[in-house]
Amino acid sequence: MKKVLITGATSGLGLEFTRYYGERGYCLHLLGRNNDKLLELKEKYSPLCEVKLWKVDLSIDEQLNHFLNQIENETYEIVINNAGLGDFGPFVKSELNKVEEMVKVNVLALTKIAHVTLQNMVKVNKGYLLNVASMAGFMSGPNMAVYYATKSYVIHLSEALTAELKNENIVVSCLCPGPVDTQFYTRSNLDNSTLFKNLWVADAPTVVMEGIFGLQKRKPINIVGFQNQVIVFASRFVSRKALVRMTQYIQEYRKK
Ligand SMILES: NC(=O)c1ccc[n+]([C@@H]2O[C@H](COP(=O)([O-])OP(=O)(O)OC[C@H]3O[C@@H](n4cnc5c(N)ncnc54)[C@H](OP(=O)(O)O)[C@@H]3O)[C@@H](O)[C@H]2O)c1
Repeated sequence: MKKVLITGATSGLGLEFTRYYGERGYCLHLLGRNNDKLLELKEKYSPLCEVKLWKVDLSIDEQLNHFLNQIENETYEIVINNAGLGDFGPFVKSELNKVEEMVKVNVLALTKIAHVTLQNMVKVNKGYLLNVASMAGFMSGPNMAVYYATKSYVIHLSEALTAELKNENIVVSCLCPGPVDTQFYTRSNLDNSTLFKNLWVADAPTVVMEGIFGLQKRKPINIVGFQNQVIVFASRFVSRKALVRMTQYIQEYRKK
Protein backbone atom coordinates (compact mmCIF):
# COMPACT_ATOMS: atom_id res chain seq x y z
CA MET A 1 0.00 0.00 0.00
CA LYS A 2 1.27 3.48 -0.86
CA LYS A 3 2.32 5.38 2.23
CA VAL A 4 2.25 9.15 2.76
CA LEU A 5 3.72 11.14 5.65
CA ILE A 6 2.01 14.48 6.31
CA THR A 7 3.39 16.87 8.93
CA GLY A 8 1.06 19.50 10.33
CA ALA A 9 -1.86 17.20 9.48
CA THR A 10 -4.07 18.56 12.26
CA SER A 11 -4.98 21.91 10.72
CA GLY A 12 -5.28 24.04 7.56
CA LEU A 13 -3.37 22.75 4.54
CA GLY A 14 -2.37 19.56 6.35
CA LEU A 15 -6.03 18.62 6.93
CA GLU A 16 -6.69 18.99 3.21
CA PHE A 17 -3.65 16.93 2.22
CA THR A 18 -4.92 14.28 4.66
CA ARG A 19 -8.39 14.34 3.10
CA TYR A 20 -6.98 14.03 -0.42
CA TYR A 21 -4.74 11.04 0.28
CA GLY A 22 -7.11 9.40 2.80
CA GLU A 23 -9.97 9.37 0.28
CA ARG A 24 -7.64 7.68 -2.21
CA GLY A 25 -6.77 4.84 0.17
CA TYR A 26 -3.17 5.78 0.95
CA CYS A 27 -1.72 4.55 4.22
CA LEU A 28 -1.64 7.79 6.22
CA HIS A 29 1.15 8.72 8.63
CA LEU A 30 -0.12 11.89 10.27
CA LEU A 31 2.03 14.15 12.44
CA GLY A 32 0.89 16.97 14.69
CA ARG A 33 0.72 18.08 18.30
CA ASN A 34 -3.04 18.24 18.80
CA ASN A 35 -3.90 14.77 20.10
CA ASP A 36 -7.69 15.17 19.96
CA LYS A 37 -7.48 16.24 16.34
CA LEU A 38 -5.16 13.34 15.50
CA LEU A 39 -7.58 10.86 17.08
CA GLU A 40 -10.48 12.47 15.22
CA LEU A 41 -8.58 12.00 11.94
CA LYS A 42 -7.89 8.36 12.76
CA GLU A 43 -11.56 7.73 13.44
CA LYS A 44 -12.56 9.48 10.21
CA TYR A 45 -10.11 7.81 7.83
CA SER A 46 -9.65 4.34 9.39
CA PRO A 47 -12.61 2.92 7.43
CA LEU A 48 -10.92 4.08 4.21
CA CYS A 49 -7.25 3.38 4.85
CA GLU A 50 -4.55 2.50 7.37
CA VAL A 51 -3.75 5.41 9.70
CA LYS A 52 -0.72 5.85 11.95
CA LEU A 53 -0.51 8.83 14.29
CA TRP A 54 2.63 10.67 15.33
CA LYS A 55 2.08 13.07 18.21
CA VAL A 56 5.29 15.04 17.94
CA ASP A 57 6.31 18.57 18.79
CA LEU A 58 8.84 19.26 16.06
CA SER A 59 10.42 22.09 18.04
CA ILE A 60 11.51 19.73 20.81
CA ASP A 61 14.79 18.04 19.86
CA GLU A 62 14.15 14.78 21.76
CA GLN A 63 10.69 14.35 20.22
CA LEU A 64 11.93 15.13 16.71
CA ASN A 65 14.91 12.79 16.98
CA HIS A 66 12.83 9.99 18.51
CA PHE A 67 10.35 10.32 15.63
CA LEU A 68 13.18 10.25 13.07
CA ASN A 69 14.59 7.07 14.63
CA GLN A 70 11.16 5.46 14.50
CA ILE A 71 10.66 6.17 10.78
CA GLU A 72 14.20 5.30 9.72
CA ASN A 73 13.05 2.10 8.00
CA GLU A 74 9.81 3.47 6.53
CA THR A 75 9.72 3.92 2.77
CA TYR A 76 7.26 6.66 1.99
CA GLU A 77 5.89 7.14 -1.50
CA ILE A 78 5.07 10.74 -0.60
CA VAL A 79 6.29 13.11 2.13
CA ILE A 80 4.44 16.36 2.70
CA ASN A 81 6.74 18.57 4.78
CA ASN A 82 4.01 21.02 5.72
CA ALA A 83 4.13 21.88 9.45
CA GLY A 84 5.09 25.47 10.02
CA LEU A 85 4.38 28.64 11.94
CA GLY A 86 4.76 32.39 11.62
CA ASP A 87 4.91 35.36 13.95
CA PHE A 88 3.90 38.87 12.92
CA GLY A 89 5.52 41.83 14.68
CA PRO A 90 8.82 43.69 14.96
CA PHE A 91 11.84 41.40 15.44
CA VAL A 92 13.13 43.20 18.54
CA LYS A 93 9.77 42.84 20.25
CA SER A 94 9.33 39.18 19.39
CA GLU A 95 9.74 36.48 22.00
CA LEU A 96 13.00 34.59 21.59
CA ASN A 97 11.36 31.23 22.24
CA LYS A 98 8.89 31.88 19.41
CA VAL A 99 11.80 32.76 17.10
CA GLU A 100 13.53 29.55 18.09
CA GLU A 101 10.37 27.50 17.56
CA MET A 102 9.95 28.95 14.07
CA VAL A 103 13.51 28.18 13.04
CA LYS A 104 13.32 24.69 14.53
CA VAL A 105 10.03 23.72 12.90
CA ASN A 106 10.22 25.60 9.57
CA VAL A 107 13.92 24.92 8.94
CA LEU A 108 15.53 22.25 11.13
CA ALA A 109 12.70 19.73 11.38
CA LEU A 110 11.83 20.09 7.69
CA THR A 111 15.46 19.51 6.74
CA LYS A 112 15.91 16.49 9.01
CA ILE A 113 12.65 14.90 7.82
CA ALA A 114 13.73 15.41 4.20
CA HIS A 115 17.15 13.92 4.96
CA VAL A 116 15.81 10.79 6.67
CA THR A 117 12.93 10.08 4.27
CA LEU A 118 14.97 10.68 1.11
CA GLN A 119 17.43 7.92 2.14
CA ASN A 120 14.85 5.19 1.52
CA MET A 121 13.38 6.92 -1.52
CA VAL A 122 16.86 6.85 -3.06
CA LYS A 123 17.21 3.14 -2.19
CA VAL A 124 14.04 2.27 -4.11
CA ASN A 125 14.62 5.05 -6.66
CA LYS A 126 11.10 6.35 -6.26
CA GLY A 127 9.31 9.03 -4.25
CA TYR A 128 7.80 12.46 -3.96
CA LEU A 129 8.82 15.16 -1.48
CA LEU A 130 6.69 18.26 -1.17
CA ASN A 131 8.15 21.07 0.94
CA VAL A 132 5.69 23.79 1.88
CA ALA A 133 7.37 27.21 1.73
CA SER A 134 5.57 30.46 0.87
CA MET A 135 5.78 33.29 -1.63
CA ALA A 136 7.25 35.11 1.39
CA GLY A 137 10.43 33.18 0.65
CA PHE A 138 11.09 35.28 -2.43
CA MET A 139 11.51 38.48 -0.44
CA SER A 140 12.55 39.95 2.90
CA GLY A 141 9.64 40.66 5.22
CA PRO A 142 9.84 43.51 7.73
CA ASN A 143 7.61 42.67 10.72
CA MET A 144 7.83 39.00 9.85
CA ALA A 145 11.55 38.85 9.31
CA VAL A 146 12.31 35.39 10.65
CA TYR A 147 9.33 33.73 8.99
CA TYR A 148 10.26 35.12 5.56
CA ALA A 149 13.86 34.05 6.06
CA THR A 150 12.85 30.50 7.02
CA LYS A 151 10.72 30.18 3.90
CA SER A 152 13.55 31.51 1.75
CA TYR A 153 15.68 28.68 3.16
CA VAL A 154 13.01 26.13 2.20
CA ILE A 155 12.88 27.38 -1.39
CA HIS A 156 16.66 27.28 -1.78
CA LEU A 157 16.97 23.86 -0.15
CA SER A 158 14.22 22.41 -2.35
CA GLU A 159 15.66 23.83 -5.57
CA ALA A 160 19.08 22.41 -4.77
CA LEU A 161 17.64 18.98 -3.95
CA THR A 162 15.76 18.96 -7.25
CA ALA A 163 19.06 19.51 -9.04
CA GLU A 164 20.91 16.90 -6.99
CA LEU A 165 18.23 14.28 -7.64
CA LYS A 166 17.58 15.08 -11.27
CA ASN A 167 18.85 11.68 -12.45
CA GLU A 168 16.78 9.77 -9.88
CA ASN A 169 13.11 8.94 -10.09
CA ILE A 170 12.47 11.26 -7.14
CA VAL A 171 10.48 14.47 -7.31
CA VAL A 172 11.12 17.41 -5.00
CA SER A 173 8.58 20.18 -5.31
CA CYS A 174 8.31 23.37 -3.30
CA LEU A 175 4.84 24.78 -2.77
CA CYS A 176 4.75 28.57 -2.42
CA PRO A 177 1.29 29.89 -1.54
CA GLY A 178 0.42 33.49 -0.77
CA PRO A 179 -2.08 34.11 2.04
CA VAL A 180 -4.38 31.15 2.73
CA ASP A 181 -7.47 31.07 4.90
CA THR A 182 -6.31 28.82 7.76
CA GLN A 183 -5.54 29.10 11.47
CA PHE A 184 -2.13 30.41 10.44
CA TYR A 185 -3.71 33.90 10.29
CA THR A 186 -4.61 34.07 13.98
CA ARG A 187 -1.78 31.87 15.22
CA SER A 188 0.74 34.22 13.58
CA ASN A 189 -0.92 37.40 14.92
CA LEU A 190 -1.67 38.48 11.36
CA ASP A 191 -4.86 40.18 12.56
CA ASN A 192 -2.47 43.03 13.42
CA SER A 193 -1.35 43.24 9.79
CA THR A 194 -2.81 44.57 6.55
CA LEU A 195 -1.36 41.60 4.62
CA PHE A 196 -4.55 39.58 4.24
CA LYS A 197 -6.45 42.79 3.30
CA ASN A 198 -4.06 43.70 0.51
CA LEU A 199 -3.57 40.36 -1.19
CA TRP A 200 -5.80 37.64 -2.64
CA VAL A 201 -6.54 35.06 0.04
CA ALA A 202 -6.80 31.50 -1.27
CA ASP A 203 -8.73 28.66 0.35
CA ALA A 204 -6.91 25.57 1.60
CA PRO A 205 -8.47 23.06 -0.86
CA THR A 206 -7.37 25.18 -3.85
CA VAL A 207 -3.81 25.45 -2.56
CA VAL A 208 -3.58 21.74 -1.80
CA MET A 209 -4.90 20.72 -5.23
CA GLU A 210 -2.36 23.07 -6.80
CA GLY A 211 0.39 21.52 -4.64
CA ILE A 212 -0.53 17.97 -5.65
CA PHE A 213 -0.78 18.99 -9.31
CA GLY A 214 2.70 20.58 -9.06
CA LEU A 215 4.10 17.44 -7.46
CA GLN A 216 2.65 15.25 -10.21
CA LYS A 217 3.92 17.64 -12.89
CA ARG A 218 7.37 17.70 -11.24
CA LYS A 219 7.31 21.49 -10.74
CA PRO A 220 10.41 22.41 -8.68
CA ILE A 221 8.85 25.70 -7.55
CA ASN A 222 5.10 26.06 -7.48
CA ILE A 223 3.74 29.56 -6.80
CA VAL A 224 0.00 29.41 -6.21
CA GLY A 225 -2.28 31.93 -7.95
CA PHE A 226 -1.85 34.33 -10.84
CA GLN A 227 -1.53 37.44 -8.62
CA ASN A 228 1.25 35.84 -6.59
CA GLN A 229 3.05 34.63 -9.72
CA VAL A 230 2.96 38.18 -11.11
CA ILE A 231 4.28 39.65 -7.85
CA VAL A 232 7.18 37.18 -7.69
CA PHE A 233 8.00 37.68 -11.38
CA ALA A 234 7.81 41.49 -11.14
CA SER A 235 9.97 41.47 -8.00
CA ARG A 236 12.94 40.55 -10.21
CA PHE A 237 12.78 43.94 -11.88
CA VAL A 238 12.79 46.23 -8.83
CA SER A 239 15.71 46.98 -6.54
CA ARG A 240 15.98 44.96 -3.33
CA LYS A 241 15.49 48.19 -1.36
CA ALA A 242 12.24 48.97 -3.18
CA LEU A 243 11.03 45.39 -2.75
CA VAL A 244 11.57 45.49 1.01
CA ARG A 245 9.67 48.79 1.20
CA MET A 246 6.79 47.37 -0.81
CA THR A 247 6.57 44.28 1.39
CA GLN A 248 6.64 46.49 4.47
CA TYR A 249 3.81 48.59 3.03
CA ILE A 250 1.69 45.58 2.07
CA GLN A 251 1.85 44.06 5.55
CA GLU A 252 2.10 47.14 7.77
CA TYR A 253 0.45 47.30 11.16
CA ARG A 254 -3.27 47.68 10.80
CA LYS A 255 -4.46 51.08 11.98
CA LYS A 256 -7.07 50.30 14.61
N1 LIG B 1 -1.91 30.12 5.75
C1 LIG B 1 -1.10 30.91 5.05
O1 LIG B 1 -1.39 32.08 4.80
C2 LIG B 1 0.18 30.32 4.52
C3 LIG B 1 0.79 30.97 3.45
C4 LIG B 1 1.97 30.46 2.93
C5 LIG B 1 2.53 29.32 3.49
N2 LIG B 1 1.93 28.72 4.55
C6 LIG B 1 2.58 27.53 5.13
O2 LIG B 1 1.71 26.44 5.04
C7 LIG B 1 2.03 25.48 6.06
C8 LIG B 1 0.75 25.04 6.75
O3 LIG B 1 0.20 26.17 7.41
P1 LIG B 1 -1.37 26.36 7.60
O4 LIG B 1 -1.75 27.59 6.86
O5 LIG B 1 -2.09 25.11 7.34
O6 LIG B 1 -1.36 26.76 9.14
P2 LIG B 1 -2.11 26.13 10.42
O7 LIG B 1 -3.56 25.96 10.14
O8 LIG B 1 -1.69 27.00 11.55
O9 LIG B 1 -1.45 24.67 10.57
C9 LIG B 1 -0.12 24.53 10.97
C10 LIG B 1 0.17 23.05 11.19
O10 LIG B 1 1.55 22.94 11.61
C11 LIG B 1 1.61 22.18 12.80
N3 LIG B 1 2.68 22.62 13.69
C12 LIG B 1 3.02 23.88 14.03
N4 LIG B 1 4.02 23.87 14.94
C13 LIG B 1 4.30 22.57 15.16
C14 LIG B 1 5.23 21.90 16.01
N5 LIG B 1 6.04 22.57 16.85
N6 LIG B 1 5.27 20.56 15.98
C15 LIG B 1 4.44 19.84 15.18
N7 LIG B 1 3.53 20.42 14.37
C16 LIG B 1 3.47 21.77 14.37
C17 LIG B 1 0.27 22.40 13.50
O11 LIG B 1 0.03 21.31 14.37
P3 LIG B 1 -0.91 21.44 15.71
O12 LIG B 1 -2.16 22.17 15.27
O13 LIG B 1 -1.19 20.03 16.06
O14 LIG B 1 -0.14 22.21 16.72
C18 LIG B 1 -0.68 22.46 12.31
O15 LIG B 1 -1.08 21.16 11.95
C19 LIG B 1 3.05 26.18 6.98
O16 LIG B 1 4.34 25.70 6.69
C20 LIG B 1 2.90 27.65 6.61
O17 LIG B 1 4.10 28.37 6.82
C21 LIG B 1 0.77 29.18 5.06
